[in-house]
Amino acid sequence: MKEQERGSFTSKFGVIAAAAGSAVGLGNIWRFPYVAGENGGGAFLLIYLFFILAIGIPVMLSEFTIGRKAQRNAFGSFRKLAPGSGWPLVGLMGIVAAFVILAFYSTIAGWTLEYIIKSVQDGFRGNDTAELFETFKSGTFKPLLWQFLFMVVTAWIVFAGVQKGIERYTKILMPILVVLILSMCVRAVTLDGAEKGLSFLFKPDFSKITFNVVLEALGQAAFSLSIGMGALITYGSYIRKNNNLSNTAIQVASTDTLIAILAGVMIFPAVFALGLDPKAGPGLVFEVLPKLFMKMPLGYYFSILFFVLLAVAALTSTVSVLEVVVAYFSEELNMSRGKATIISAASIWVFGILATLSFSDLSGVTIFGNTFFDLMDYISANVLLPLGALLIVIFLGWKLGKKVTQQEITNEGALRPKLFSVFFFIVKYIAPVAIVLVFLNSLGILKI
Ligand code: PHE
Repeated sequence: MKEQERGSFTSKFGVIAAAAGSAVGLGNIWRFPYVAGENGGGAFLLIYLFFILAIGIPVMLSEFTIGRKAQRNAFGSFRKLAPGSGWPLVGLMGIVAAFVILAFYSTIAGWTLEYIIKSVQDGFRGNDTAELFETFKSGTFKPLLWQFLFMVVTAWIVFAGVQKGIERYTKILMPILVVLILSMCVRAVTLDGAEKGLSFLFKPDFSKITFNVVLEALGQAAFSLSIGMGALITYGSYIRKNNNLSNTAIQVASTDTLIAILAGVMIFPAVFALGLDPKAGPGLVFEVLPKLFMKMPLGYYFSILFFVLLAVAALTSTVSVLEVVVAYFSEELNMSRGKATIISAASIWVFGILATLSFSDLSGVTIFGNTFFDLMDYISANVLLPLGALLIVIFLGWKLGKKVTQQEITNEGALRPKLFSVFFFIVKYIAPVAIVLVFLNSLGILKI
């Protein structure tokens, strides 16, 4: 593809909507509560917030910088900025990560579609929601069908171009999602016995911190911010030269973090008040929320709207993941956008069947005690993304260098971001060392 033919986001708000659309998704509303629940709640939240600040925002800004400077896909960006080196392999690793993430993410995204239908049919009333969930996910056909449909819609939007579809709709839909979650928070915290849930989320119990909790917090921070796999390099390549990248990164990361915390405030009081188990795993929100809706005035309407918006939030994320692969195929392998979209979506879909059937026909197939789904979820968030993030900051700090980075971030000197030196110091020293320490610790090689 020639330079002029590359798309670009048309406005400042469009950039935020697309990038926040990528960041905000199932990671915030489905994954955050269940991972926090399994890892001790408050202590997890604290470490998570630390990682967002110390690693998440710097990596996000680094990815935007690489993408906008190079104006290429994740692989091509490294090749352009570091020709003849091994760095493009980092981009390639991102493309592999995109495959793994989309394969299992589309399973859960498919579940949201089933839950839209259940809401419309008023199917939660009078039923045991845990049982409903169990019956649905252990079926073969329906979960596969929904996953397929979700992939088709994702592919269709990517094919049409990110700008005209996603940019336009996320601007309207994201704010509605926030308002909705807020109302659900109000209901959740006014349930009898809600305090237990709030203290679970906000009172850190430091005895719960283990190396694994630290790694899970890093993985969740990376996953939730969409960093470490080139999604934001790819989106960065569509950002215009006059955009203030530092502000964009801060706004996107704050929105994302706010929504994750709100999701926690919505879920945990309900979990405790309704006598459920915070360690319920991937099914957590699908079992808890329907119960919450049944206890709300206008719960019927709330539940429909909520699952529709959850599906939309998931969609704006799946689009950004697929875009990584499609941009790579079309720019590096010279495919048309249509062909690139069909080939990548179809192969991810096939791979994704393994994830969906992990809850039914393949639930007995485990590797090191994990189903395919668990393995894909764990490896992408806790290995591939932190590793990608590590290599990205090393690239910026040690290969691209301070001068070039400063030029790009200051829009050739037009802007004066106050904390540039702090940012560069974090990127060059703090973030890499922190990520390496977390890795070594969790491998048991080093114990601090
Ligand atoms: N950040 C998305 C979410 O929280 C998931 C995602 C991960 C999207 C990595 C793109 C890249 O749902």
